[in-house]
Amino acid sequence: MNRRQKKVFITRKIPAAAINLLINSGYKVTVYKKDSVIPREDLLKNIKNADAVISLLTEKFDSSTLDQMDKCKVIANYAVGYNNIDVKYAKKKNIIVTNTPDVLTDSTADLTIALLLACTRRVLESENFLKSGKYIGWKPDLLLGIELKDKKFGVLGAGRIGTAAAIRAKAFGTKIIYSSKQRNHLLEKKTNAKKVSFNVLLKESDFLSIHLPLSKETFHFMNKERLSLLKKNAVLINTSRGEIIDEKELIRILKKKKIYCAGLDVFENEPDVNPELLKLNNAIVLPHIGSATTEARTNMALLAAKNVISVLSGSGPVTPV
Ligand code: DGY
Repeated sequence: MNRRQKKVFITRKIPAAAINLLINSGYKVTVYKKDSVIPREDLLKNIKNADAVISLLTEKFDSSTLDQMDKCKVIANYAVGYNNIDVKYAKKKNIIVTNTPDVLTDSTADLTIALLLACTRRVLESENFLKSGKYIGWKPDLLLGIELKDKKFGVLGAGRIGTAAAIRAKAFGTKIIYSSKQRNHLLEKKTNAKKVSFNVLLKESDFLSIHLPLSKETFHFMNKERLSLLKKNAVLINTSRGEIIDEKELIRILKKKKIYCAGLDVFENEPDVNPELLKLNNAIVLPHIGSATTEARTNMALLAAKNVISVLSGSGPVTPV
């Protein structure tokens, strides 16, 4: 008997190892070929007959999209965040949603520290200074920054990435405080971290690093009132989701120099970045590259493929959300 070959649709080119794994496992794989975000019409056309979809955070799977996916058993999101998918509705439709935890933790934590150092040591501002021909000699007060040692590194949302970032920050001699729904025993053991309330975290952190998942509860969590609690010399780092900060308010306080600097890898309306942010010396802005290492992106792709194979072969998801 000829068994129907199951179809996997991938919404953008991902590392070949994952595509090969799927093909070698007997699936018919279609990859959206253009190097751009898939337009909605093309997405709808391709997901209709797919048994599984590997999606990116750039694709929105709301109820109207999910309604077109009658055959689909699994959406394997190529990201740890899954705010692009209506998970509740997917569940109603018996579509399993998976994500890619762990494999991008180190890369994202590394970038958190890169942003922290870039902010505190004014790395990009210094480079611009030199490249624009302004460096005419060493001087005692040229581009002074802030030392990390003995400062408080605050973790807002101490999950995997927050923990990994804090362990790195600890190596620079910072003291770790964190706010999370639950106590994080690993973080406390590894860094002597102290769990504090949100307000204490905001008031006491010299460096506040955001690692919350985006949800209705965390949208604009850093609103005007909470941003106003930050120290005058605070550095705010965000490698999670842009929508967690009220960006207009952040720009307002950066302009007024009410905090020292913001290091942002994510924005409220990606891929658009508020042009005001681009003009600020005290904001470092990166194009959402937290997990952008060859290692992380390859392992994310392999994990997404393994989730697809595992669900379609009846073994259940490896990393369900
Ligand atoms: C994620 O995984 O959610 C990141 O934002 C992209 O890797």
